[in-house]
Amino acid sequence: MKNYSENYWAKRAKSYNKTSWVKNESFIDGFLEMIGHKSFSNILEVGIGTGALAKIISEKKGPLIGIDISKEMINKINHNKITPIVGNAHDLPFEDNTFDLIYMRNVIHYLDDPKKVFSEIYRCLKSNGTYMFSQVVPPNDNISTEYDWLVGRDIHYPTKNEILKLFSIFNKINHNDFLLENQSISNWLNNTCQNEEEKQKIIDRHRKTSKDYRKMANYRESEDDIFVSIRHFMVSGEK
Ligand SMILES: C[S@@+](CC[C@H](N)C(=O)[O-])C[C@H]1O[C@@H](n2cnc3c(N)ncnc32)[C@H](O)[C@@H]1O
Repeated sequence: MKNYSENYWAKRAKSYNKTSWVKNESFIDGFLEMIGHKSFSNILEVGIGTGALAKIISEKKGPLIGIDISKEMINKINHNKITPIVGNAHDLPFEDNTFDLIYMRNVIHYLDDPKKVFSEIYRCLKSNGTYMFSQVVPPNDNISTEYDWLVGRDIHYPTKNEILKLFSIFNKINHNDFLLENQSISNWLNNTCQNEEEKQKIIDRHRKTSKDYRKMANYRESEDDIFVSIRHFMVSGEK
């Protein structure tokens, strides 16, 4: 298990929805564009968290099941079109060929074995079913080491190339970059850090970033905050 286990999410659950990207509508619209007007009868979200995305997807596309390792995160869900289940993405508790849409947003960097999770998702998808995926990535693959360092949490953020390799078991791959511009680092840290020391460490690291990173991320400092553009990689594939 990585350090980011159930306990970590139990602590984050309380303020999770205050992080600005979680409910950002243009982000969610951008994600939904990957499936357009297609309709689905059996939908699964992997790593559903507090259900912020599921709320919108279930209202637009129909009832869905969401699985998450953290009961505290899914305890925040109260919606008649969402069925939350506590479980591990590495071992999905569903029969083969069950869903015609499975999606996952910003979960992969917390997984011990992303390849296993992708094969579980593949197994649970019906033939021709769709897998829709979104993930925060470094602004460019060649700056991955600096990006992992600056986030400061001993997490590896997969590069676009690494993600596309995981998708090689799927067909009909489509992908898009989506940029969330001018994101406040204070908003992110205030709602995700475990203590002041961690927060200060990550701010200091941002202040020490390279010229290359700053240019790619449109880095900007104000008197009391730092703003950057955050790149998300959205990919869809079919079984
Ligand atoms: C950054 S949150 C994303 C939540 C949601 N997908 C969203 O976009 O708002 C990551 C979520 O992944 C869940 N998670 C982490 N490891 C998991 C695993 N092995 N199986 C299932 N869920 C997991 C966490 O509990 C957390 O709710």
